[in-house]
Amino acid sequence: MKKLTLSALKKRKNNLPIVMITAYDALFARLLSESADILLVGDSLNMSFGGNADTLSATMDQMIYHTNAVCKGAPETFVITDMPFGSYSDEGIALSNALRVYRETPADAIKIEGGADKAHLVKHLVDNGFAVCGHIGLLPQSVRAEGGYKVKGRSEEEALSLIADAQAIEQAGAFIIVIEGVIADVATRVAQSVSIPVIGIGAGNGVDGQVLVFSDMLGLYEPFVPKFVKQYTNGATVVKEAVNIYKNEVQNREFPDENFIY
Ligand code: KIV
Repeated sequence: MKKLTLSALKKRKNNLPIVMITAYDALFARLLSESADILLVGDSLNMSFGGNADTLSATMDQMIYHTNAVCKGAPETFVITDMPFGSYSDEGIALSNALRVYRETPADAIKIEGGADKAHLVKHLVDNGFAVCGHIGLLPQSVRAEGGYKVKGRSEEEALSLIADAQAIEQAGAFIIVIEGVIADVATRVAQSVSIPVIGIGAGNGVDGQVLVFSDMLGLYEPFVPKFVKQYTNGATVVKEAVNIYKNEVQNREFPDENFIY
């Protein structure tokens, strides 16, 4: 599959839904890229790979290391790098960290969390030559400030505020928006209120595409399975069963047999 361009992605608005999935390393990037339109090097790697309780301690160095691995594994796939917490707290900081992503990796775009309040940052980055993906709704980087992960769009006031967020991010020049943890009907209204693609996660089926964390959708991450996650395979069981067979064969001296020796 040839890498999609920004204009090809924009044309997917109200069209064939965009398939986005997170990737953190070359091994999985190669496998996932066979079906994904976009690989997102999400700061969620700080949880499933880093073993941390949330995304907030992810660093620029980490994001750059994982982005390079993903780009090497999937050189023909559009890659978005998540800007970690604190890396875009003002225009100057955002620009210098975004420059690190483009100078130190071949990533195609960056993603920042926030709505109308972050539109000036999106505009500053776009004006300086960056392709920016917005991220509105439930913002994982706000988990400590909000005291938990809160689904958004439960009132008409919240719905209107999400629409205003999406329109501000579009106006600022973002080419695509991720909408997370939003009541499905509201996410549909948000998607219909802008002319750029809106990719949902926990936001129903009325949007322009879907994104899932790969370790969630492969059933590899056991500590917590959010309601919106469909596990397409039971990866944890598959891995544990295989390693258990290996353990038994090693302990019984069945492995390696004559097929696996020099
Ligand atoms: O970090 C991440 O994986 C994300 C997705 C949840 C969209 O931002």
